Amino acid sequence: MNLEGKVAVITGSAVRIGRAIALALADAGADICIHYNSSDQAARDTCAEIEQRGRMAMQVSADLSDPVSAAETVFSEVMTELGRADVLVNSASVFENKQLKGATEADWDSQLDINLKAPFFLSQKFAEHLPSDRSGHIINIVDWRANRAGIGHLPYRISKAGLVTLTECLALELAPGIQVNAIAPGAILPPPGEDRSYLEQRSGGIPLKRVGNPEEICRTVLYLLNSEFVTGEVISVAGGEQLTGGA
Ligand SMILES: NC(=O)c1ccc[n+]([C@@H]2O[C@H](COP(=O)([O-])OP(=O)(O)OC[C@H]3O[C@@H](n4cnc5c(N)ncnc54)[C@H](OP(=O)(O)O)[C@@H]3O)[C@@H](O)[C@H]2O)c1
Repeated sequence: MNLEGKVAVITGSAVRIGRAIALALADAGADICIHYNSSDQAARDTCAEIEQRGRMAMQVSADLSDPVSAAETVFSEVMTELGRADVLVNSASVFENKQLKGATEADWDSQLDINLKAPFFLSQKFAEHLPSDRSGHIINIVDWRANRAGIGHLPYRISKAGLVTLTECLALELAPGIQVNAIAPGAILPPPGEDRSYLEQRSGGIPLKRVGNPEEICRTVLYLLNSEFVTGEVISVAGGEQLTGGA
């Protein structure tokens, strides 16, 4: 897809990996909708950086723990301000380390609402707003853990496994107009509040013997947007960690 004159909506894109994706898509020619929840100043700063690159940018705040209303808000504001949406990247998430013992219904609700139901309803609105004579892309950011059993992060893993299934089902339902793919990152950025050493202690168990960086996710997003014969795929960007189960 030639991104010149196209509009990309990226959830959770004021900060971290989502922000890197927003800037990369702006560099590739797209106008950008920065979705955020609480990072208001970071959203403004990211919009300003996009505008400095000569692209249009808007910001919209919507709490994805209320997924139906958030999807309505995001797409009604995008259509009003930018008039179209060609790419949807579902990147926002919550990452809680909960096991069977101790996990509450509130933990389940938050992981499933933000990580799975929100991408579903955002995809629904995206498809509704895309005219039938135009093509589009949905890219869901999952996690290599979605495809592996493991202890810990149980509701998170299940939310991301559901997002893999959603990716495959929507690839069928929305073909041929909309390609739907997923990227499964490995150790890219430490959780907020942790420094790089949190991830680097894992690098010995990663076959490529290092952690990754957001630019490697951005290159994969651009690869998918430039790949007209790829849909329903999940690409791991994890240095091979998906093969080891993190051992
Ligand atoms: N970091 C990694 O190494 C790694 C590894 C594997 C997979 N991933 C996946 O890659 C994606 C990006 O990861 P990340 O680490 O950069 O970000 P993250 O910490 O997983 O997500 C943070 C983003 O989610 C948004 N968010 C959280 N709760 C929200 C809510 N209730 N409503 C709306 N937005 C909400 C935040 O918005 P505000 O800041 O505006 O509140 C922020 O932009 C995620 O899907 C994550 O699961 C990341």
